[in-house]
Amino acid sequence: MPDDQTHARRVQEVFARQAAAFEDHRHNHALTHDSQWLFQSLRVEPQDLLLDVAAGTGHAARALAGRVRVAVAVDLTEQMLQAGKQAAEQQGLSNVLFQRGDALRLPFLDESFDVVISRFASHHIERPDVQIAEMARVLRPGGRLGLADVVADEDPAVARTQDRLERMRDPSHTRTLPISEIVAEMQSLGLEAVTVESRAVQHAADPWLKRAGAPTEIADSVRGELRAEIAGGAPTGLRPVQREGELWLAQVWACVTAVKPGA
Ligand SMILES: C[S@@+](CC[C@H](N)C(=O)[O-])C[C@H]1O[C@@H](n2cnc3c(N)ncnc32)[C@H](O)[C@@H]1O
Repeated sequence: MPDDQTHARRVQEVFARQAAAFEDHRHNHALTHDSQWLFQSLRVEPQDLLLDVAAGTGHAARALAGRVRVAVAVDLTEQMLQAGKQAAEQQGLSNVLFQRGDALRLPFLDESFDVVISRFASHHIERPDVQIAEMARVLRPGGRLGLADVVADEDPAVARTQDRLERMRDPSHTRTLPISEIVAEMQSLGLEAVTVESRAVQHAADPWLKRAGAPTEIADSVRGELRAEIAGGAPTGLRPVQREGELWLAQVWACVTAVKPGA
């Protein structure tokens, strides 16, 4: 694994390029329509101060902004924050704050927020355990935490193949966690009432590869490994199928919620 700062630079290079695509309604269904279910079971109140960690353009923060007092979107990549700020202005939102910051050292005092969420980000972070600990640190007693992400197969060998293919597609990918590890991490921090909801989400392979800007030869190799699984080869963790002449795969998305005790 590269060191902290090398990886942080890689993340910013990758997401500076993707910032516009995150707000392009022709291509961002996965971030809007398909992911609406993710924080549905998380309680949010009109007086809540909500933090969205590694928020990107703040899709989740903006979606929840109408139900809370203030939503803060923190991210490492300036271009993502700028695109999010512009989108928030266009939506007429006045209670979303965009701030640059690192999920591994959140620039907030302990116990500052009523709700802390993060979506589709832990698999870009080198130490998701530190990210979750930081999210718990800035949560007030009685506050609610929600972590949503692509998750790994519970078989470590399959998970390693899945991560290798995801990393070929997008070099800022670090490691997807299995649900069991996310739950164990939250419990080790003393969080309570842990709940899990997960769904398999289908993607056509070609646009999925294109969205991340994978070079042609890399995209061909990924497609080759997916087709090899369909032909009876080892599992990739990406559940490939051929449908009407098109290659599809599935990721499992999970939303794990918990409550910080001590209110
Ligand atoms: C796939 S995007 C998801 C954005 C957003 N959460 C969403 O669901 O639309 C991942 C985001 O994580 C951010 N990120 C990665 N590592 C980070 C870190 N250590 N601290 C803060 N943000 C980080 C990237 O800049 C990028 O905006």
